[in-house]
Amino acid sequence: MADRTARLSVDGIKGTIELPIHLGTVGPDVVDVAPLTAKGIFTYDPGFVATASCQSAITYIDGDEGVLLYRGYPIEQLAEQSDHLEVCYLLLNGELPNAKQKQEFVRTITRHTMVHEQLRTFFNGFRRGAHPMAIMCGVVGALSAFYHDSLDIDDEAHRKITAHRLIAKIPTIAAMSYKYSIGQPFLYPRNDFDYATNFLYMMFGSPCETFEPNPVISRAMDRIFLLHADHEQNASTSTVRLAGSTGANPFACIAAGIAALWGPAHGGANEAVLKMLREIGSPKNVPKFVKRAKDKNDSYRLMGFGHRVYKNYDPRAKIMQETCREVLTELGIDRDPLLQIATQLEKIALEDEYFIEKRLYPNVDFYSGIILKAIGIPTEMFTVIFATGRTPGWIAHWKEMVSAPYKIGRPRQLYLGPKKRDFVPIEQRTS
Ligand code: CMC
Repeated sequence: MADRTARLSVDGIKGTIELPIHLGTVGPDVVDVAPLTAKGIFTYDPGFVATASCQSAITYIDGDEGVLLYRGYPIEQLAEQSDHLEVCYLLLNGELPNAKQKQEFVRTITRHTMVHEQLRTFFNGFRRGAHPMAIMCGVVGALSAFYHDSLDIDDEAHRKITAHRLIAKIPTIAAMSYKYSIGQPFLYPRNDFDYATNFLYMMFGSPCETFEPNPVISRAMDRIFLLHADHEQNASTSTVRLAGSTGANPFACIAAGIAALWGPAHGGANEAVLKMLREIGSPKNVPKFVKRAKDKNDSYRLMGFGHRVYKNYDPRAKIMQETCREVLTELGIDRDPLLQIATQLEKIALEDEYFIEKRLYPNVDFYSGIILKAIGIPTEMFTVIFATGRTPGWIAHWKEMVSAPYKIGRPRQLYLGPKKRDFVPIEQRTS
């Protein structure tokens, strides 16, 4: 795989160190720094801004050009012509399914949507009003206690059934987390509905009333799942891989991914966008908040703007923007005050020199937050929905890693603490 060589000379080390350069199918070449350890040198890259932590054939991003490919297929084409479950199949298996494979896959996922009946009582351990992400972390981690029959990570059949169970059950658990937090009864999944519609039913349905699906809303929900399905080595996916590299079971690894996703710099941003819009309060206050975001002495940031990789318009945000307009028109709520603030903010930020110069564009979470609010999804559920969409990506990465030889993930450090010193008995300590 090494096609070229980088040569490094280091003060104090004789000669040059040869480092192989590996070429990807597309994208930047990577210098293999592993030979440095034999010379007693480590590389330093906090935040992994210049480090490829693994090889992968799942997703490709070109942040400068605003390109996102799942298994080579542009996200725009998938969003337009495919659906979330087909994309799940693609991420897991590497190829789009033929008609028969798709039918079988959809049937399998649909047949696995119920959770173990005992898991329903497990929810009672949480206090009412708990954040649904807290419930998700706990319940998804606990799945390993319910599905003992599929925990052998070296068995391909076990890996497959676990992947299917996770994709099928995540929407059920997500909706249960919400229903529990508001004190309403859980709804069993409806297997006559498609994936997105079934989720909306479990969220908004009630045992006492008939649920009327809205195809525009179902399509928007499916798109939100699809657009979040994978995003190469982001913080939560890297967490799943790191946890998986120890040989931990996949349910525990996905629970770790959910925990990493929760933070406002990652999946928590869609919730943070809504909080920010509420704090801004009125379109006339937008300039004041934009000014704060630009102030070097103020840590305030505009949530839903900027991305570690995209230094161009996030291609997912463009699709989400269109979907956002469709949903608002369908629901006749394009005059919603928070949405007006969002529109004003988007306009000002896109024209502002600071945001242009730093290449800070609205990201996927900016629009997904607005759509979710319009659909009636409570803010605390936004990150849960991100997690539901991202589950196939996490599993695809976990499966890719454990299906080939892998090493435990073990970063090194630049140590800046005290040098070796002797213990001082307490009575002799002066300060
Ligand atoms: N508002 C104002 N200034 C910003 C923002 C923002 N949202 N984002 C970055 N900057 C500034 C930042 O202050 C820095 O300025 P300077 O160079 O003068 O110090 C510069 O832009 C580069 O920022 P950075 O923090 O070095 O960039 P990063 O790659 O480490 O961070 C980010 C990326 C997404 C964490 C960051 O842009 C951010 O905090 N955005 C708001 C949170 C958000 O929307 N997150 C969702 C990301 S998309 C969903 C996902 O993939 O999880």
